[in-house]
Amino acid sequence: MSLDSYVTLGRSGLRLSPFTLGTMTFGEDHGWGCSPEESKNILAAYLDRGGNSIDTANIYTNGHSEKIIGDYFAGHRALRDRVVIGTKFFGNLYENDPNGGGAGRKAIVQQLENSLRRLQTDYVDIYWLHNFDPATPVEETLRALDDLISDGKVRYVGFSDVPAWATAEAATIARLRGWAPIVALQLEYSLLERTSEGELIPMAQALGMGVLPWGPLKSGFLSGKYSSATTGPVDTTRAQMVGAPSEADYVVIDALNAVAGDVGASPAAVALAWVRGRPGITSTLVGARRMDQFEANLHALDVTLTEAQRATLDDVSAPALNFPAANNRMLAPMIQFAGATVDGTPSVVSPLLRSSSARY
Ligand SMILES: NC(=O)c1ccc[n+]([C@@H]2O[C@H](COP(=O)([O-])OP(=O)(O)OC[C@H]3O[C@@H](n4cnc5c(N)ncnc54)[C@H](OP(=O)(O)O)[C@@H]3O)[C@@H](O)[C@H]2O)c1
Repeated sequence: MSLDSYVTLGRSGLRLSPFTLGTMTFGEDHGWGCSPEESKNILAAYLDRGGNSIDTANIYTNGHSEKIIGDYFAGHRALRDRVVIGTKFFGNLYENDPNGGGAGRKAIVQQLENSLRRLQTDYVDIYWLHNFDPATPVEETLRALDDLISDGKVRYVGFSDVPAWATAEAATIARLRGWAPIVALQLEYSLLERTSEGELIPMAQALGMGVLPWGPLKSGFLSGKYSSATTGPVDTTRAQMVGAPSEADYVVIDALNAVAGDVGASPAAVALAWVRGRPGITSTLVGARRMDQFEANLHALDVTLTEAQRATLDDVSAPALNFPAANNRMLAPMIQFAGATVDGTPSVVSPLLRSSSARY
């Protein structure tokens, strides 16, 4: 596996590297990022290895992340059209301006213009709704995004951190109206956060959406620098934001560290390889504060977990999912449910009926 083993994003023709470069750490404004120089070195190293997908947001380091990316491509103009740049709207950068953020039409158009200015480009490849905005009618958001696609300023639309029911409603409206589809989701997903397996990931698979998981190392908890046996200071800047692992987290962390020893790779590489190999995952968002972390994380491309190693990690991190996940799992093997045949053969849903294209 390499960064140039490109994969299509959901039911779209857009091709991405299996790891997307996360740039929430680009810039020092939040106190846990890196300098513009280190950021550009990480970006150059990613592109050099064949990476083509970059993720940012208007809100990351208050716009500085976008500016660093824009400055880099201003110096490498020929590369701009070869990469997929995703940025997000929603976070409000303007104090006392109620339309500075959110998902209303006025806010979206202004946020995009400002992102294009910082990124020094005419268009973004994926424009992400960063968070759920229950105060704005979803038709307004979708229609504004569709207009921006028609204007040539946006290529594809994605949703991030939005409940499954609201995303499914939006996807259905967009489909019936002929507006730009939601081709991808961003959601938190790691060995320490698997509840997206309940609704969001199955929805993405059923509706043809690619999935870009964020926080695959749970802000560094799964990077190898934590272990229940080790006390003392940890080399991190994230602790100010996320605190320390809980006792339950340490059960998973210790199991990960043991599997990593077995594999002969770092825990970070194994944790990323686990996420990359999970059902429904398109391109994992990889974040790093320093070049050495970035290089260590790319080793995940060389890690292939055995079935036994994967089963160990699956079991130790198994999530408690919301209703009706457990109920459906319990009922599934009961052949008297939903159309068993008279000879006792369980009914099997044809793969064709499973695909969303056959549903509408
Ligand atoms: N859509 C959303 O709502 C959303 C939310 C969050 C992130 N994202 C995107 O997803 C990307 C990744 O998310 P994330 O930053 O939370 O990912 P993460 O991989 O869970 O955490 C990254 C942090 O872990 C530590 N780390 C990373 N690699 C390491 C290594 N090899 N050894 C030791 N420590 C290591 C670093 O922090 P320290 O060294 O300071 O500990 C680094 O900043 C972001 O850049 C952003 O693009 C999206």
